[in-house]
Amino acid sequence: MTATEIRSAFLDFFREKAHKIVPSAPIVNKDDPSLMFTNAGMNQFKDYFLGDRVPQQRRVADTQKCMRVSGKHNDLDDVGRDGTHHTMFEMLGNWSFGDYFKDEAIAWSWELLTDRFGIDPERLYATVFEGAPEEGIPTDDEAKNFWLRYLPEDRILYGNKKDNFWEMGETGPCGPCTEIHVDTRSAEERAQSPGRDGVNVDGSGVVEIWNNVFIQFNRKADGSLVNLPERHVDTGMGFERLTMVLQDKSATYDTDIFTPILAEIERLTGKSYGGSYAPAAKSDMAMRVVADHLRAVAFTIADGQLPGSGGAGYVVRRILRRAVRYGYSFLDQQQPFIHKLMPVLVREMGQAFPELARQEEQITRIIQSEERSFLQTLENGLQRFAALDTDGNTIAGQDAFELYDTFGFPIDLTRLLAEERGLTVDEAGFTAALQEQKARSRKDAAKEVGDWHVLTDEPSVFIGYDVLSDSGARITKYRTVKVKDKPQYQLVLDRTPFYGESGGQAGDRGLIRVGEERLEVIDTQKENDLTVHVVDKLPADPQADVYTAVTPEERQAVSNNHTAAHLLHAALHEVLGEHAVQKGQDVRAGKLRFDFSHFERPTDQELERIELLVNAKIRENIPLLERRDVPIEEARKSGAMMLFGEKYGDTVRIITFDEDFSSELCGGTHVKHTGEVGLFKITSESALAAGVRRLEAVTALKAEWYVRGRLAALREVQELVKGANPSEAVRSLQDDNRALKKELDKLQAERAGDLKSDLQQSFEDIGGVNFLATQVPLNDAAAIKNLAFQLTGEIENAFVLLASESDGKALLTLAISKGLTDGDGALNAGAMIRGLAKHIRGGGGGQPFFATAGGKEPGGIPAVLSHARELVAGRE
Ligand code: SER
Repeated sequence: MTATEIRSAFLDFFREKAHKIVPSAPIVNKDDPSLMFTNAGMNQFKDYFLGDRVPQQRRVADTQKCMRVSGKHNDLDDVGRDGTHHTMFEMLGNWSFGDYFKDEAIAWSWELLTDRFGIDPERLYATVFEGAPEEGIPTDDEAKNFWLRYLPEDRILYGNKKDNFWEMGETGPCGPCTEIHVDTRSAEERAQSPGRDGVNVDGSGVVEIWNNVFIQFNRKADGSLVNLPERHVDTGMGFERLTMVLQDKSATYDTDIFTPILAEIERLTGKSYGGSYAPAAKSDMAMRVVADHLRAVAFTIADGQLPGSGGAGYVVRRILRRAVRYGYSFLDQQQPFIHKLMPVLVREMGQAFPELARQEEQITRIIQSEERSFLQTLENGLQRFAALDTDGNTIAGQDAFELYDTFGFPIDLTRLLAEERGLTVDEAGFTAALQEQKARSRKDAAKEVGDWHVLTDEPSVFIGYDVLSDSGARITKYRTVKVKDKPQYQLVLDRTPFYGESGGQAGDRGLIRVGEERLEVIDTQKENDLTVHVVDKLPADPQADVYTAVTPEERQAVSNNHTAAHLLHAALHEVLGEHAVQKGQDVRAGKLRFDFSHFERPTDQELERIELLVNAKIRENIPLLERRDVPIEEARKSGAMMLFGEKYGDTVRIITFDEDFSSELCGGTHVKHTGEVGLFKITSESALAAGVRRLEAVTALKAEWYVRGRLAALREVQELVKGANPSEAVRSLQDDNRALKKELDKLQAERAGDLKSDLQQSFEDIGGVNFLATQVPLNDAAAIKNLAFQLTGEIENAFVLLASESDGKALLTLAISKGLTDGDGALNAGAMIRGLAKHIRGGGGGQPFFATAGGKEPGGIPAVLSHARELVAGRE
């Protein structure tokens, strides 16, 4: 079976067992602050398990794009070293939300693997949880008994908490699990030792392929476990590993998921892939790293996460850099090459994941530009390495850390470079510096999330599309979160008009009254399906009746900007083309920022047409057409704009302003008529990343103030030019200015010439040094430098110190003839200037033959001049 057939067969099997097949959620996690990337198929169903949301289907199956590169599940450092770990991988899963449990889950996994996929039952092993008496969890004999229907007792093993109790993160749904392992070894090897010895042993050839988790508990922040209202099944089978087993390979990289990519890497680099896992086989490892990381980076960019300098974007950048480094060090790739693998990736995976094909050009450009800039950093790092002051034969830990931190050199690259030059690295010092940095950033990011105090289990309903205030709601839960030791209070209500930050729209602010007590809502956030109100204190009586009120002016300002963003999106399509799709937005009361794909800077005319079109639509005063609960298929057919990387449910909301102009799937808030937006004005346009542009704009009152501000500035100019045409007047001023500057330069040059001949007469012999230290009436640093060089060039053994003053600051320029900077009693301008600069309360530096310094205290110049004389006179 090909990989594609295997994926379909899995889904077909569960479809036959009455499961609904759902699409993969985005790999980038936008609505769960506890998780950057989807790390398991169950993430998107977390709320069902916790009982925060009611599922529409109780049986679901899918293939989920996952990434394990941070937090509790992190495989990044293993990738490339073995044949089974990946950063990005597909997880095939089936779920029961309070429906079937251990019996069916085990029976179906057996049926699928042995009957449908034809895996030899003799090769299969199962593990079950041995129990955790300290947490009151018994041995999972139940699962074991179900397995005994298919497997002899000696092929069922007990496993500990690490292997057989699955948890998503520090908190959240969890439970005991049973894992299925396949003995992939040859018949000969199997005859020599039983497969059970290899279960959970890395590199043994017995590989875990499927995990069936029986979710029963919620792990709370205080570490305790509480029972969930219902019991669920969460299974995850590594698609790459399953394919490896079914294609009878010993590494995922040898399956048809990876071989086409590896073949292309071979072609591009001219090296051949030997499939070796020996530590010395660096280029084989590098090829695996590149193949794996290419997928991770391409999929995350397709889901809307650009590489960047913080959060998830930084993780993506680091993954790509790891690939670049391996390519650079072990595949001799000093030029960008990873982006050239996109066509083969799209050919292989574009059908199952059309988002890749659709964004191929964009992804390619982004990867290429990241590669280019990181290769430049690597080059700079190599130069830094060459210039390191190696004390004896050791590279200091701090230097190795600088190479790591500033230039992206991992310690093994530094070690390699050091070995080539016969040096060693102070690795203990490096580790200490690294730990110190980690401790610092942990302290900065420290966030302690307390457990929710749950009053009732009601779901939270958003009523803020229709009303801005409401009475009679109830608090369902509350908690305290500590951010850098500062407490933050959070409330959830059974019903709220407050919009929680999502889809690039800021959260509402306003007031909540609990009984008679007033709380200020500082922000509203979204955590999966919960709307979380951040308030200034917790109420004294959480059971009291709640009155809620969103600040109407702010909501109006945000809605103005969100509607304007839709109109802008449609205008971009019309003026620039269909490719100009949204890549991100930040819509809040005082701000409208919109990122979109486009490969060059839009021209001024294009920007003007975009702005005119948006304003025309505002003046048309188009009424809002809002459709809620539209089945997703219907929405897709209607041609409304949808974004990749967004998680859409079975039904969606469509926002339309003129059927022929703007229709988008959207959860945000909007104006009732476009006329409310008033005026739309673009304030800036810039490049955000390769192929991504950023527009900033203002609307309504803010736009009015912006225009007024610009007009006032113009009026000021007009007054200065006394009624003349301002641009003509400014142009003529510029012309005059240029002519005057020329004249001035000429006069200065003449003066410097006169000055030079005066100075030539002023040298004085101090112990064989032709000494000159004086203040000069020049203020142009370049002219002074020039003068100093001319003097040291013309006069032997010259020491020339020129001091000058301008705008209340002092400048020292010191030049010393080459003959005096070597040998016994050598003078060093760089070292001397630092001492001299103290008199003018400043600092500076330079080389032995030339140095400059600046300071705030021109009154110290005479002291500088006499100090210089002493230095030269006191020379040994
Ligand atoms: N959540 C489990 C895992 O990720 C099974 O899907 O292994």
